[in-house]
Amino acid sequence: MSSQDLHKRRGAAVARGVSSTISSYMDRGTGASLTDVDGREWIDFGSGIAVTSIGHAAPRVVEAVAEQVARFTHTCFMVAPYESYVAVCEQLNELTPGTHEKRSALFNSGAEAVENAVKIARHATGRSAVVVFDHAYHGRTNLTMALTAKSMPYKHRFGPFAGEAYRMPMSYPLRDGGLSGEAAAARALDQVAKQVGAENVAAILIEPIQGEGGFVVPAPGFLPALRAWCAENGALFVADEIQTGFCRTGAWFASSHEDVVPDLVTTAKALAGGLPLAGVTGRAEVMDAVHPGGLGGTYGGNPVACAAAIASIETMRELDLCAASRRIESIMLPHLQALAQTHPEIGDVRGRGAMLAIELVQPSTRGPMGGPAPDTERTKAVAAACHAAGLLVLTCGTYGNVLRFLPPLVIDDDTLHRGLEILSAAFA
Ligand SMILES: Cc1ncc(COP(=O)(O)O)c(C=O)c1O
Repeated sequence: MSSQDLHKRRGAAVARGVSSTISSYMDRGTGASLTDVDGREWIDFGSGIAVTSIGHAAPRVVEAVAEQVARFTHTCFMVAPYESYVAVCEQLNELTPGTHEKRSALFNSGAEAVENAVKIARHATGRSAVVVFDHAYHGRTNLTMALTAKSMPYKHRFGPFAGEAYRMPMSYPLRDGGLSGEAAAARALDQVAKQVGAENVAAILIEPIQGEGGFVVPAPGFLPALRAWCAENGALFVADEIQTGFCRTGAWFASSHEDVVPDLVTTAKALAGGLPLAGVTGRAEVMDAVHPGGLGGTYGGNPVACAAAIASIETMRELDLCAASRRIESIMLPHLQALAQTHPEIGDVRGRGAMLAIELVQPSTRGPMGGPAPDTERTKAVAAACHAAGLLVLTCGTYGNVLRFLPPLVIDDDTLHRGLEILSAAFA
């Protein structure tokens, strides 16, 4: 059946609120390539939003999933436990930043992990306020909508939202006049003190590099200052590494680039090579503050997803995908910077590792926060031109004017170069 036919069927069956970036329907994938049902090949610069870092249909994951499905698909860890859940928690405890004693719990989605991190932080501190930031994205459930910044499309007419979430200004070098990380943190923390009260703060929750909000990389010093404030004020520093985790930024976790050791870390996406699995990992005394039975869910840490996670992590270690991510940066970043030289509408090139983006602006018009005016229409047009040429790219950003690049970390140089050529041609 063709994409066109499938699209018609979809219109009559699938809710309109669930939309897709492209209208081609996928048939299969391998590495960094996808083939649609019409037989057309795509170069994937999106990895299903930072999920398939080890590539599509990664052989180890395929094998581990098949083997687990044949043994058993579900018992519910809260009813009849199994080894792979424990093994994934061991891996998370080892790989997340810090050498302190840790514990983990597993869930199904990123939003569910964030919800549980907030539950744990509130329980462990006996406080209720959660501090989040402008441009943040933490999910679409009721609590995580309250934590997410952008109204349209994520929150529009879905309220009322959960309470006790307080939004503070983010460090956003393109748009805050180049404020230092320390100064941006002082600005945010001063507001926390005045509007929330330090003694009421259970957690500061932040993406070390913002994902949906526009791949905003805070100025150096911002994250360490927030981390230090939490330690001084009895609050927990929670890093949402759902998009940045698992080698995406050239390190296992993006917090490590500034030697930040969070109290709690949320993970999902690349953890299980495409199967739904998420985790909260943190200091043993914080995680274990919660009473037995206080955390869980029917499917959290499903054995098939856990088998996939173990295979994914083995693949990341074996292929050294953190190094692969830095290699991708060494090819992509100069290409994007050269493109920006000839296209003044590229107002910023930023990111780390294989999490890179360009922000499109109207260079001579002033826009939000004194930065250049966003060029949302051109961003859409460039993305559409890439799609027409078989390159799957994603947009993001509060103003929808950021093209983001998240290729699978196993992408080969030839495919990467072909993708970048398509991007340059789209600008031309
Ligand atoms: C940083 C961050 N947190 C949370 C989420 C929510 O994850 P999920 O879509 O799996 O619920 C996302 C998803 O994009 C994310 O990027």
